[in-house]
Amino acid sequence: MKLIIFGPPSAGKGTQAQRLSKKYGIPQIATGDLLREAVKNKTPLGVKIKSYLDSGRLGPDDLIVQLISDRASQPDCVGGYILDGFPRTMGQAEELDKMTAIDLVLNIVVELEALVERAVGRRICPKCAAVYHVKFNSPKAEGVCDSCGSALIQRDDDKEHTVRNRLKIYTEQTAPLVEHFRKKGNIVDIDGSTGIDGVFDQMVEAIDRLGK
Ligand code: AP5
Repeated sequence: MKLIIFGPPSAGKGTQAQRLSKKYGIPQIATGDLLREAVKNKTPLGVKIKSYLDSGRLGPDDLIVQLISDRASQPDCVGGYILDGFPRTMGQAEELDKMTAIDLVLNIVVELEALVERAVGRRICPKCAAVYHVKFNSPKAEGVCDSCGSALIQRDDDKEHTVRNRLKIYTEQTAPLVEHFRKKGNIVDIDGSTGIDGVFDQMVEAIDRLGK
């Protein structure tokens, strides 16, 4: 099963991809996490991509497509995977079409203004990439990851100014892909205003309909 979790910055793609990965036993491929890891480890890709991440701009298509293609050919992806944060431009979508067929695109629909609060209040675990929110999904002990006990951090690109820039880029370059998926007929809209459990339930329902 190959899925795309689609939606604007901070819509909840990563939160849901992690849960679906556990439920269905297929890996999450999150471009943002892979890129942040590359920056942290100062790999050649990380050095090239750092300024894009810091400003919220999209990285070059060729680098991102190569990253996804390498990751999707790992042995743990033979039974499928969940793409989180890819594709984000028409060029990336066309390359993905050449690479493989996608079973379902889960499109999280949320009002853009609500997303600023979600991003600014987000905290992440730098070790295991678990995602929290100071108000909507707080850890058991403040500032500490429930899963691995590491100290939580705020992402550099979760400052309000950068978040607004990311939302603008989403509207201009990524939102038009919805029409591309609609033409292919494999997209389902998910109401992203229903809380984390509500969004998860809608996604599971849509995925389970695939097998019927
Ligand atoms: P990336 O890491 O992919 O960032 P993003 O798409 O902006 O998505 P986010 O990670 O911000 O949000 P999310 O939708 O995963 O939400 P989350 O679950 O964390 O990309 C970062 C950067 O990398 C880009 O800016 C770009 O530079 C580069 N990049 C990445 N992919 C690229 C590509 N394909 N091409 C080129 N460049 C690329 O949730 C957010 C918060 O809300 C959390 O605190 C969570 O607890 C909370 N929350 C989640 N769901 C709900 C809910 N239903 N109700 C209330 N709160 C909720």
